[in-house]
This record gives sequence, C-alpha cells and structure tokens, in this order.
Amino acid sequence: MSFLEQIEERPGAAELRAASYRVLGLKRGASCVDVACGAGYAVAELARKGLKVTGVDADPAAVEAARLRAPGAMFHVAHSADLPLEDESMDGYRALRLFHLLEDPVPTIAEAHRVLRPGGRIVVGGQDYGFLLIDSSDQDLTDVICLGLESRAVSPRATRTLRDVLLDAGFQDVEVSVHSQVVTEHQQMAPQLKAAAGAAVEKALITQQDADSWLGEQSRRGRRDRFLAVVPTLLVGARR
Ligand SMILES: C[S@@+](CC[C@H](N)C(=O)[O-])C[C@H]1O[C@@H](n2cnc3c(N)ncnc32)[C@H](O)[C@@H]1O
Repeated sequence: MSFLEQIEERPGAAELRAASYRVLGLKRGASCVDVACGAGYAVAELARKGLKVTGVDADPAAVEAARLRAPGAMFHVAHSADLPLEDESMDGYRALRLFHLLEDPVPTIAEAHRVLRPGGRIVVGGQDYGFLLIDSSDQDLTDVICLGLESRAVSPRATRTLRDVLLDAGFQDVEVSVHSQVVTEHQQMAPQLKAAAGAAVEKALITQQDADSWLGEQSRRGRRDRFLAVVPTLLVGARR
C-alpha cells in the first residue's frame, strides 16, 4: 500500500472524510472538485453519492492511482493555485491535508473562490502540527520532539490560519470543527515518532541519546498498553 493509501486507511480516516462531506452538504448531481486528491478515496466516495467529481493532484502518480479507484470521475494533474477549471463552475470544493505542504495558502484559496459558483460550498483542513498530544514521562523532551515533526512540514501550522484566509478571500459563514483521533496502538504511530525524533536530532534540538531513550520509552509504553497520542484535524467549512 502506498503512503497516500495508508493515510486514507488509518483508523478514523473514513469518518473524517464523511465529516468533510457533511460540511459540503452537496446533493446528488452537484459538481465538486477534490484538490490534492491523493489516492482518490474521497473522489470515489463522492462519485458513489451521485456527485459529478473532479480530482486534481500535482503528482501524476497520485492521479493514476486515483483514476483506478474512481474510473468514472474526471482528473487533472495540476497545481492547487492554477486549476484547469472554468470560473464559477463548481458547487463544491474540497482540499484536505494540503496546506502544510504549501508556502502560502492564499493563492490556493483565491483559486477555490474563482472556481466555486456563488453559494457554492468549500471544506478545507488537515492536521495542525502544533496541536499534537503524546503522553510521556518527559513532557519537555516530547514537546521538543514535536517541534522536530513540525520542522518536516513546509507550513506545519497552516491549518489554524485557514479561517482567516477564507474570510479574507470573501467566504461567508466560516465554521471550524475539530476531529480528534485517539491512538493507543504504538505501532500505528511508530513511523511518525521515529521520523519526529530523527528530525529533532537533525535540527540539533536533541541528542541521538535523547531520541533513543524517548523512542525506547514510547515502545515500552506500547508493549504495556500505555501508549497515548491524540491527533486533531481541523475542518474549515464556508460558503462562497
Ligand atoms: C498528504 S496527501 C493528502 C491526500 C488526501 N487529500 C488526503 O487527505 O489523504 C497530499 C497530496 O497533495 C498533493 N499536492 C501537494 N501539493 C499540491 C499542490 N500544490 N496542488 C495539488 N496537489 C498537491 C500531493 O501530491 C499529495 O497527493
């Protein structure tokens, strides 16, 4: 399974997608674009709900995988700030887990505003990397390691700015909701924990010894059923 498929198969991912569809509130026959569609899970589900869905991703390999998952949908390889779609042509716009990858969300939201018809619905969001809870006997060290995880993203705290960005772009009725995933299986988070600790060492925030001892404690917690992480995702919905 590819990385993009793994994130859509994680526990809680299907519920999060369903929550994003509720924020959109689109009826059968409506048009919707899923930007940064990744492996196409949302495109396929929205198409099954009777929507006319277009998937867009900057990565041709992602679009290929998505096309297999949703053969009836339309796809484009394109950047979120330059969509090959007509002005005011869409009833719905969805982009999840994209904004931490962008230097600046403003051109992408301006493009969403351009392609949505007046009254059309938008849902954007993702994980805010400054907003992650991991239980540990050394919480200060954990906070520094979380900074390591943040350092791996272009804009780790972009999601919290989306309400502002939508309002500034002229969207109305902007609403923010939080969907938290509670993880008690250490295995499920182990790759991210290792990546975070590795990044913190790379950034000279901690020593390799600190990283090893922290990772060791997290594994022991996992073996004793004492692992706990809470990963919140923000969804921001609005009307054009
Ligand atoms: C973390 S994945 C998220 C996929 C899916 N939206 C989800 O929630 O699981 C990020 C996706 O965004 C795509 N991407 C990154 N920057 C992009 C951009 N500027 N425009 C369009 N797609 C982009 C990547 O190729 C990747 O498929």
